[in-house]
Amino acid sequence: MIKIAPSILSADFWRLGEQIRKVEEAGADLLHIDVMDGHFVPNISIGIPVIKSIKGKTKLPLDVHLMITDPERYVPYFCEAGADIVTFHVEATPHPNRVIQSIKAEGAKAGVVLNPTTPLSFLEYLLPDVDMVLLMAVNPGFGGQKFLPFVLEKIAKLREMIESAGLKVDLEVDGGIGPTNIKDVVRAGANIIVAGSSIFSSDNPAERVKLLKKLAEEALEAGKR
Ligand code: DX5
Ligand code: ZN
Repeated sequence: MIKIAPSILSADFWRLGEQIRKVEEAGADLLHIDVMDGHFVPNISIGIPVIKSIKGKTKLPLDVHLMITDPERYVPYFCEAGADIVTFHVEATPHPNRVIQSIKAEGAKAGVVLNPTTPLSFLEYLLPDVDMVLLMAVNPGFGGQKFLPFVLEKIAKLREMIESAGLKVDLEVDGGIGPTNIKDVVRAGANIIVAGSSIFSSDNPAERVKLLKKLAEEALEAGKR
């Protein structure tokens, strides 16, 4: 099954609760929450208090994408606030293994994120310990950017690495995904799709979630034949 993770970065924060309810009812599988610190990425978004107020109001697992330097300092606070999955950038810490251990010690699922040009070799000694790898298909920091096409090959290579190691690791892809390219991303091997602007900047976010799910399932079925 392919999971859709709407990114609330592109939501209307005045109507956040209502918008989350709509995408949940439409069949979204996770809620992707982009945390930006103005250091690791050139933008500042939302953080712990917002996660606290969402927690318990939706059944969707909270997929917290930390675009922050020194993630090790903040992991306990994000977990305490209600993160179900915490992902952090390997480029943002010299101690990725330590961060993974601390996320797991807090009882959350742990994932690592790679920027578009960060090589998959970074994963060599991390892959067996993570629940998820998130591949960025745009340079992190902003919603609404264009999908970088070379990432398709990277997705396929990572899928191959996961399968050949016999691991059960989710492969999530984030940035620039919408109805025109979701099938390519699924065919390449992603099983969790993040979509921000294509959902929340559309006239009807609920219908857009349903469309993305339908297209993703079609791509998966076609691949099985
Ligand atoms: C970018 C964020 C993404 C972003 C995706 O730094 O990590 O999650 O919200 O937005 P779209 O789907 O508009 O590229
Ligand atoms: Zn993200």
